[in-house]
Formats: sequence, structure tokens, C-alpha cells
Amino acid sequence: MKNLFETMNDHISIRSYKDKEIDKENIDNILDYLMKSPTSIGMQMASLIKVEDPNIKEKISKVCNQDYIATIPGLIVFVVDLYRNTKIKEEIESKKIEKVTMDKFYQAFTDGVIMATNFSNLLEAEGYGTVFLGSILNNSQKIIELLNLPKFTFPIVAIGYGYSDGSETKKKPKMDKDLRVFTDSYKILPSYLEAFKEYDEIFYKYYEENNRDYLETFTNKAAKSIDMGLIERDEMLKVIRSQGFDLKV
Ligand SMILES: Cc1cc2nc3c(=O)[nH]c(=O)nc-3n(C[C@H](O)[C@H](O)[C@H](O)COP(=O)(O)O)c2cc1C
Repeated sequence: MKNLFETMNDHISIRSYKDKEIDKENIDNILDYLMKSPTSIGMQMASLIKVEDPNIKEKISKVCNQDYIATIPGLIVFVVDLYRNTKIKEEIESKKIEKVTMDKFYQAFTDGVIMATNFSNLLEAEGYGTVFLGSILNNSQKIIELLNLPKFTFPIVAIGYGYSDGSETKKKPKMDKDLRVFTDSYKILPSYLEAFKEYDEIFYKYYEENNRDYLETFTNKAAKSIDMGLIERDEMLKVIRSQGFDLKV
């Protein structure tokens, strides 16, 4: 097992896997450790769903618009889970809960993100390849239906994992920490194009050498990405509301 520093230093998202079963016992063991993650007010308001049914994987791959997910060896969806605690409240107070606040939603969402991050690091430390899948939110309602998510729950992110087939080995260059780490107050730069000149070159070179389909500078990609996104994702707030969360807008 690698230590955390090595694990994070070696990180690359993996989207191409060997057709090799994962060791369920090993994953089960990792999940025991995952349960030790910090959690907002100690209330453990996130859960996860191991997706093993090939039919469900296939349908999730359609939502994510990524074919490899249909046969990915491991897939886990992290979910906001206020169902459990509202049921406890209902049993104690013998009355039905109609709504849960957005504050609770955010707490649970953060819990889920922390668990997903820990899961990905633990898997990578154990030698698995992983990929985060935010694209499950391309159609959150569909994911809710596929996984039978009850009221007061909502999908957050999925992690796909398995043994890398070794075809992806180049680390994607990240920007220098001076551009993202500030002290005491947010640092506003006089020109972002100027500040990103060096990173633009490194970024462009990476795609030149590894994936010409996406050949672009970081700044061009960042500018375009601001307006990018599926119209279906605009429905997300409506779905969150229909799951019983009180948006207060
Ligand atoms: C919250 C989140 C959601 C992501 N969603 C997807 C996704 O849906 N599909 C995908 O192929 N990669 C996804 N990724 C992976 C990113 O594309 C990847 O981390 C990024 O390009 C940097 O590459 P690296 O992880 O290899 O360093 C996601 C990453 C994060 C953190």
C-alpha cells in the first residue's frame, strides 16, 4: 500500500480498465475505513450505493454519456442521505416530516464529497485506478429512479474504479499553487492571461503529446467552460426540491 503523499502525487484519473474482477473483500475492508471519515455534526448524513447490476451500470453510462462505465469493474454512487435521520425523528415523534432544510442538504453533500475523496485515495493507495463521475448529475432524476433513492436523498458523485489497463500514464499538469493559494484575503491579479502564460504553454503541450482532440490552452478552455453545460442540469434544483429539500428561494 502506498502512503498518502505518494498516492496523491501519482494521481491520474483512469478511464480504461482491465477486464478483471475486483477483490470484494478488499473493497469491503476499505469501506470499513471510509466509515471513519469526518462528518458534519457527527450525523453521518451521506450513504453510498455499490452498483453491481450490469443493467444499472449500462443505464448510468448513458446518463454520464461515457460508454466505459457500462462495463467498469467497480462503481459506487455517493448520496445525500437525510432519509435515515428523518425516519428516526418520525419514529421518536410519531409525526411525518415533510421538509428538510437546504442547510442539512449542504452538510450531507459535503459529507458525501469527503467520503468520495477518501474512497478514491484509499483505492489509489491500494493500486486501483479511479475516476470521479460528476456526470451522474447530467440527469439526477434518472439516477434517483435507477437507484430507488427515497425522499430526502440526492446523488452527489460516483467513483468508478478497477485495475488500470496501463494505457493512461501521463499526469495532467495542474497550475502552480501560487495561483490558487492565498493568505488572509483573496488575491486579485492585474491580468489573468499574463499570469497564466506559463501554465498555458505546459497545458497545451500536455494535450499536444497526449490528446490532440482536446488541444487548447487552459485559459481558452476555462473561458469556454464557464458557459458550457447540459440544459438538463438546470433542472437539478427542481429535483432537489422534489426530493423534499426546502430551497427557501
Ligand atoms: C467532482 C468531479 C467530477 C468529475 N466528473 C467526471 C466525469 O463525469 N467524467 C470523467 O471522465 N471525469 C470526471 N472527473 C475527472 C476530471 O476530469 C479529472 O480529475 C481532471 O480532468 C483532472 O485530471 P486528473 O484527475 O487525471 O488529474 C471529475 C472530477 C471531479 C473532481
